[in-house]
Amino acid sequence: MEGRVYQELRIFSGNAHPELAQSICHYLETPLGECEVFEFSNENIFVRIHENVRARDVFIVQPMVSPVNTRVMELLIMIDAFKRASAGRVTAVVPYYAYGRSDKKDQPRVPITARLLANLIETAGADRLLTVDLHAGQIQGFFNIPVDELTALYMISRYFKDKELTDVVVVAADEGASKRARNVGQSLKAPLAIIEKRRVANDEQAEVLNVIGDVRGRQAIVIDDEILTGSTLVEGAAMLKEQGATAVYAGVTHAILSGNATERIEESCIEELIVTDTIPLPPEKRISKITVLSMAPFIGEAISRIHTGRSVGELFHMPSDKEAEEALTPIRGTGSRATG
Ligand code: R5P
Repeated sequence: MEGRVYQELRIFSGNAHPELAQSICHYLETPLGECEVFEFSNENIFVRIHENVRARDVFIVQPMVSPVNTRVMELLIMIDAFKRASAGRVTAVVPYYAYGRSDKKDQPRVPITARLLANLIETAGADRLLTVDLHAGQIQGFFNIPVDELTALYMISRYFKDKELTDVVVVAADEGASKRARNVGQSLKAPLAIIEKRRVANDEQAEVLNVIGDVRGRQAIVIDDEILTGSTLVEGAAMLKEQGATAVYAGVTHAILSGNATERIEESCIEELIVTDTIPLPPEKRISKITVLSMAPFIGEAISRIHTGRSVGELFHMPSDKEAEEALTPIRGTGSRATG
């Protein structure tokens, strides 16, 4: 089936992030598809599609955000409903893929839940997955269906480029973020430093041990894929200041901001935190230090390219400036920036 051009493109949303689905539809100049997804009093989820989707090219927008397990079940049940309604092809658009940190057996007798989720999505009947900045790129290999992984890093780099910061050092929030940070560093023509961090237990507490690299007298931009408790970022920023950084900024794709993470960011020495809208940010988390960039034009562009069989690769990685300009020309001027 891969390679054929499907009938009409239709976008549907579960209950995870209807605003993002609407913004994607706005970019694609297409109305959001009609369906309802709700829970009965026994917590059983029900899905009803209110239009004919036979042979259509269906994209279901559903990041795995709080309440995560409910949103995952909604996604699976939606995929099932669309397959049973004879959709031509179903793409799960999951801008935030949860359980990404559970991607290996790094302790005895633990699950690999990121893999289990991949199996569930496939078993439900998805034909493709479109996602943004997986915790580890290797999660793509948990799927036997095509996976397109977009990155927010190009947009985050461009934001910092436009700020015209001087004497910048790009800092990986931990060893796992070093490749992403190096790519941002290359794009900003800035050196790289790495925060050495360890987790001693499964209690979400990160211990920042050291900074590898010279940050003295420089403005640091910390790069990470997600913020959960804020511990990595806040402790890391304090350590960077201790080691002589003149200012600390951060660019992170997925703003989970659990518990009191927002307050911790507010009270920290971080000047500005750039995140994206892969996860909805409720009003109480929209503090002036947090700037939200929209991934909707990138996701919309990727959907359009998947639908018409054009390359999505140009949007995957950190392209050279020239390639990026060409690939992103249609994305410019779409009002992609929404400030916290
Ligand atoms: C972990 O390896 C991730 O890349 C992030 O650094 C982590 O999820 C951040 O979590 P927290 O904000 O709780 O420190």
